[in-house]
Amino acid sequence: IPGQKVVLITGCSSGIGLRMAVMLAKDEQKRYHVIATMRDLKRKDKLVEAAGDTYGKTLSLAVLDVCNDESVKQCIDGIKDRHVDVLINNAGIGLVGPVESIPIEEMKKVFETNFFGVIRMIKEVMPDMKKRRGGHIIVVSSVMGLQGVVFNDVYAASKFAIEGFCECLAVQLLNLSLIEPGPVHTEFEVKMIEEVKKRECPGADPDTVHYFKDVYLPSSLDIFEALGQTPDDIAKCTKKVIEASSPRFRNLTNPLYSPIVAMKYADETGSLSIHAFYHMLFNMGSLMHVKKKNRKLDDKTNSVCEGD
Ligand SMILES: NC(=O)c1ccc[n+]([C@@H]2O[C@H](COP(=O)([O-])OP(=O)(O)OC[C@H]3O[C@@H](n4cnc5c(N)ncnc54)[C@H](OP(=O)(O)O)[C@@H]3O)[C@@H](O)[C@H]2O)c1
Repeated sequence: IPGQKVVLITGCSSGIGLRMAVMLAKDEQKRYHVIATMRDLKRKDKLVEAAGDTYGKTLSLAVLDVCNDESVKQCIDGIKDRHVDVLINNAGIGLVGPVESIPIEEMKKVFETNFFGVIRMIKEVMPDMKKRRGGHIIVVSSVMGLQGVVFNDVYAASKFAIEGFCECLAVQLLNLSLIEPGPVHTEFEVKMIEEVKKRECPGADPDTVHYFKDVYLPSSLDIFEALGQTPDDIAKCTKKVIEASSPRFRNLTNPLYSPIVAMKYADETGSLSIHAFYHMLFNMGSLMHVKKKNRKLDDKTNSVCEGD
């Protein structure tokens, strides 16, 4: 439909990508035609269900694996005039655990998806955008693209890498925006927990494994529970960025994380952040846990009182 913007989103089978696709397709003024892509169409049911009657109208499906040159090219060639107004790079995978215990091959997969996957997409779409002198590229990064978090070494590195890449490219491509969520309740979190349960952590010493499994993981889950946003929150924020007359380059979706980023830039030596995180893991980490146990005890006491 003339006047409608073509929005291509990667990784729409679940989580943030799915909610973005649905929210844009359901725009009341029907301003967008969403090409919701995923690497395996067998996983389309959740999206199709959520899309409701927009499916086949303002939302269409396409196969796209960001790790595969041929797949990316075929998908873009399949779009009328290869015309994409808004490219949303959302597909991404996580990885947590002690570095000693993770095979290099697994680390490469993270970079292949989170870093080269985005570049592969941009390379395919940017030349046409440059010719038309129009278009908007959005990259879903993370707070971990700005601040490292213990045991997320390789994931954070992949997001730092894409942040650096985008910082350079933004100078020649003014319409480039980063979305930087903190924790979001998606399959990402579920996949992480399942992965960790399976992981034996070979090669890591018992102390490191203890800090990872008994201190870091429980507090990380507490943080997800306390501060986690919904995929819809991220979709809403992204829609605002798309609709802004001059979109910002960096967009933290969760204001609670602004102080962490500010702390980093306030101290050029880097010590402030590292010591704060050290303190959180090694002193407060176990404290949080104790607190949780106390909370349970309190609950029991309360229920006994109620019983009386
Ligand atoms: N959840 C969080 O806490 C959080 C926080 C900050 C940033 N983020 C970022 O948000 C983005 C979306 O993650 P999410 O939380 O929505 O997780 P999710 O529910 O696991 O969704 C990730 C999506 O990426 C897709 N994907 C993975 N590899 C792909 C590939 N090679 N080609 C195409 N698609 C691929 C997955 O498809 P399959 O179904 O085929 O696996 C899935 O649709 C990621 O870039 C992530 O780094 C997430």
